[in-house]
Amino acid sequence: MDFRAVAACAFLLVLAVGAGCRAHREQMARSYVNPALRLPDSMVRFGRSPFSYRPGEPLGDFKLYFDHAPGAGRDDKFEIVGVAYRLRRSACFQRSGGKLLCTTCHNPHQSQHGEAAVERMTVACRSCHEPILDRLAAGGRHSASSDCASCHMPKRRSQDVVHAVVTDHFIRRQPARDDLLAPVAEMQETPGNAYRGEVVPYYPAPFPQTPENELHAAVAQVVQKSNLVEGVRRLSAAVEKHRPANAEFYLILADAYREEGQMEKALPQYEEALRRDPSLVAARLQLGSALRAGRQPDRAAEGLREALRQTPDRANGW
Ligand code: HEC
Ligand code: HEC
Ligand code: HEC
Repeated sequence: MDFRAVAACAFLLVLAVGAGCRAHREQMARSYVNPALRLPDSMVRFGRSPFSYRPGEPLGDFKLYFDHAPGAGRDDKFEIVGVAYRLRRSACFQRSGGKLLCTTCHNPHQSQHGEAAVERMTVACRSCHEPILDRLAAGGRHSASSDCASCHMPKRRSQDVVHAVVTDHFIRRQPARDDLLAPVAEMQETPGNAYRGEVVPYYPAPFPQTPENELHAAVAQVVQKSNLVEGVRRLSAAVEKHRPANAEFYLILADAYREEGQMEKALPQYEEALRRDPSLVAARLQLGSALRAGRQPDRAAEGLREALRQTPDRANGW
């Protein structure tokens, strides 16, 4: 499958989600993923299965999206799957009251190239900008060229897939830099250069204030260790305050404590996770491994035996 076909599929998937105005706006958020840089960029709510989203449902009821903190050096990130993320930064998107959609510029049923593509884009841009453009062009203050995207949506090398060049959907007066196609060094993420800082809500923004959202936002701080110390504090406080029914919150908290070397605090949280959901094999395995590391081999063996009974083919139980 070539790149355009892949893009078209992603596009159709996004469109399939749309139903009604809200979902249309949400198709923008849904196509934002952050494949290379672990943050996490998004999280399906605990208790929801990955394919349980139904068109028309508020996207935030299914999944929450996160971003780097502003000013942390990642504000101009340009990633291969960042179309919606970039478009959402444009004045065109922010100030057109939800009218600018993927389908304003693209025909999802027909991939257009060359002249036909330029023509379609010009029609799309002009549908909002005609009066001012004609005024500016008549006064010699704006280019008469109709290839709007060549100046306002230049192609640019992506930072995470460094051999690919894609269109910057952040529509601006002028490109931020003039070396958009220059080679970019491949980046291997290591503990030394990985993002360390707050993981902030991206969509919905801000998250509505609910116990569930407080818990998930705290989980986002710790799962990729982006904001571990502060995150453990936030998550333990939220778990203490809300005592959520879902066992996964206790499991994540236990893992985070363990990551921080606070084994004595991790063990009761693993146990709590298992009390709430005895079938949560991940908690049983983690507890077993924590007990083994803590020199309690008998208790470890007992838990691991049970884990094996539940999932005999999971190798890490052995
Ligand atoms: C759905 C309507 C809509 C469409 C389609 C649209 N824009 Fe815009 N655009 C806007 C609005 C609204 C603004 C903000 C105007 C303002 O603040 O006065 C804007 C602002 C801009 C700006 C100024 C940006 C800035 O940061 O100051 C440029 C340049 C621009 N648009 C170019 C384009 C181009 C090129 C296209 C086609 C590829 C396009 N627009 C398509 C609605 C649209
Ligand atoms: C304001 C117009 C506009 C909007 C809105 C828009 N696009 Fe684009 N898109 C373009 C232009 C211009 C190109 C480059 C076309 C070309 O090279 O022929 C492009 C190219 C693409 C490509 C091909 C890869 C690339 O980056 O060159 C994909 C995929 C894509 N757009 C997806 C989307 C998705 C998904 C949305 C909605 C979230 C969207 N676009 C919204 C104008 C737009
Ligand atoms: C040769 C490059 C080039 C092309 C092609 C081009 N523009 Fe521009 N455009 C500019 C520059 C540069 C500015 C900023 C002018 C300024 O800020 O003084 C601008 C400004 C704008 C603005 C903001 C106007 C304002 O001051 O409010 C809009 C809207 C816009 N362009 C739309 C378009 C559309 C639509 C097309 C295609 C029909 C297009 N441009 C083609 C370079 C270009």
